[in-house]
Formats: sequence, C-alpha cells, structure tokens
Amino acid sequence: MAHTALRAMSPESLERRVRIIEATGAGVGWVDGDGGHGRAYQFRGPDGHLLELYYETEYYQPPEHLRPTLKNQPQKFTGRGAAVKHLDHINFLTSNTEADGAFVEDKLGLRLTEQILLDSGRRPGLWYRATNKSYDLVYTQDDTGSRGRLHHIAFSVDTNEGIWRAANLFVDHSVFIEFAPSKHAINQTYFVYVYEPGGNRIEICSGGYLVFAPDWEPITWTEAERKRGQAWGNPTVASFHTYGTPVV
Ligand SMILES: [Fe+2]
Repeated sequence: MAHTALRAMSPESLERRVRIIEATGAGVGWVDGDGGHGRAYQFRGPDGHLLELYYETEYYQPPEHLRPTLKNQPQKFTGRGAAVKHLDHINFLTSNTEADGAFVEDKLGLRLTEQILLDSGRRPGLWYRATNKSYDLVYTQDDTGSRGRLHHIAFSVDTNEGIWRAANLFVDHSVFIEFAPSKHAINQTYFVYVYEPGGNRIEICSGGYLVFAPDWEPITWTEAERKRGQAWGNPTVASFHTYGTPVV
C-alpha cells in the first residue's frame, strides 16, 4: 500500500486536522494530489503507514454511453467478475496496535466500535469507524513484528450470494483463496479472502451493521470468546497473523 487517503468532512476540518497532526511531528507535508482528488496532507501513522487527508474531490462524470437512466447512480452497471460495489474498509498490520489506535482516535477523531482484549491486557485488534458504517479502518497485530504493513483491503458486494459467486469465479481463475466464505464474529461481516496477483490480500465482504447511537460503547471480545473462532465456530486461518504486504 503506497498510501491511504481519507477525505475530511470540510475544508475547515482538513485544516484543523492538519494543525493537530503537525503538532505531533508525524507530518510529511502537502502534495498536489493525484487521481480524483486535490491537494492532500501526507503524514505517517506511528507504525509507518503513509496516510493522507484531503478535501477537494473530482466527481466522476461517465462518458455518454455509460450515462445512467437513473441519475442518482454514478453510471450504468458495468459489473463483471466479482462485480464489487465499493471500497469498504482497510485493515493495517501493525507492530503496536496501541500506538496506532491512540493516534487515529486522538488525532483523526476515529471512533472505536469493536476490540479484542487478551488476558494479558494487550489489545491485538482494534476496529475504527469514520462514518456510520461500523468500521472503516482496522489495526491488527503483526505477529512477525514488522512495521507498517497491509493486512487487506475490502470491497463490498450487496449480497452474500455475491461472495459465493466471487469465490466460484476465483476457483475458476486460479486465484488463491486464503479463507473460504464464512462470517466474522467481529463486526458480523460475511467474507471471502484471496491474494491478488501482486500478493496483496483482498476481501470481498457484505453485511456488517450501522451505528446510529451517539453514545455507542465499544464491544470488547475476550481471549476466551475469540477461541470460539469466527461467527460459525470455524477457526481463523493462521496466516492471518503473519501474512501481509510487503511480504517478509
Ligand atoms: Fe476485513
């Protein structure tokens, strides 16, 4: 993952967040921006992930032949393959979940929705939201001790059948399925995980939930509860704790 950009809610909130980040010493500086967005402020999270904040956005204008009949959608349906609908969330591996979690909570204003709390008091998994969707950014512990790696990027489909259909296509096209379709206990998302040709782990997901309560209390999963496995009792694949990109 070269960099991950988050959009601020307004030009004012962008400036406000940049001042807060500058004061931490994590700032890299402003860049002109690239595909789809204007100038952006780059900074590094505590584990080294390169992040950006921006506000100016270029809205997609479909070419004439893709102009939709219903104007509240971006273009005519062009889905093929897994036909993912939108970028859902990103999950970073980190050598220090506490440092990254504190940074995005205190400096970016993200809110914790679910977490794993081990008997030792360590928290190896933290799920954060920037919107009403129950998670947008996740930090999980990298058992190799490496810093600043990517665990996966997730793209959503509308239905669970979309996940099964994607899994069948992945088999047909010899795409490595690391974790066959199932349901997460944490955040309730249905999923399938694969490695794309470059080696990055990609999740196709659906479901999950929305948070509307202003006083939402984070859900805490204990070590004993995690030992029950995913939602339907199947264990998490072991490579989830060590495989990430860049590969080490
Ligand atoms: Fe995920």
